[in-house]
Amino acid sequence: MRLDKFLSEKGIGTRKQIKEYVKNGRATINCVVAKNSDQHIDENNDEIAFDGNILTYKEFYYFMLNKPQGVVSSTREGRSKTVVDLLKDEGVKDLFPVGRLDKDTVGLLLLTNDGVLAHNLLSPKKHVEKEYEVYLEHDITDEDMHRLEEGVDIGDDEKTLPAKAFRAEDKEGHQIIHLIIHEGRFHQVKRMLNAVGNEVVFLRRLSMGSLKLDGDLAEGEYRALTEDEIDCLINSNKN
Ligand code: URA
Repeated sequence: MRLDKFLSEKGIGTRKQIKEYVKNGRATINCVVAKNSDQHIDENNDEIAFDGNILTYKEFYYFMLNKPQGVVSSTREGRSKTVVDLLKDEGVKDLFPVGRLDKDTVGLLLLTNDGVLAHNLLSPKKHVEKEYEVYLEHDITDEDMHRLEEGVDIGDDEKTLPAKAFRAEDKEGHQIIHLIIHEGRFHQVKRMLNAVGNEVVFLRRLSMGSLKLDGDLAEGEYRALTEDEIDCLINSNKN
């Protein structure tokens, strides 16, 4: 890999800036000052440093964000702040959210540059489980909970797939329900509750596949996934 590509992937600057930085002697390869930004390095074995800080090479990055309200789940959006903007200090190129949460939905969102994992998690064939905490406008009957579990008509060609619904209390003692679904249709949870004559007033995603929202992350905070979390996600969604 070229040195300038490596440094640019680490978010050091544009190719033009990097050329200048390298000329000024700010990058070293195995403790020797690099001469040219276009020289080739072995990203897996050479020790590359910038301003004395050693940069480790990773092809893929994985972050969990506790998405706050008011932020859109896309890479670029007119005037609205995006989830990718929240992680811009990481300097990771080509980061994108795996799937979408509505602007007013909070909770677990995975951001990565690993297109294969994203594809596997989002593939409709994989039926990856997603769990939501759902705050409702009206009390819900046992019969309607049962209908949610059996599958409801939300106006698409097919009813929703069997789901799991149960009652719970949130940390403040509010009565809520948890809904576990295996699809990712547009506004699915809200439309499912509409189909049984109710209204979602607040929605939080707690999990996606094996990945669980870290309860220590406040809304708007994020962290890198642990090696275990990455392995579990990759291994449970292969092929
Ligand atoms: N279902 C919804 O209705 N909205 C979301 O953001 C996620 C699932």
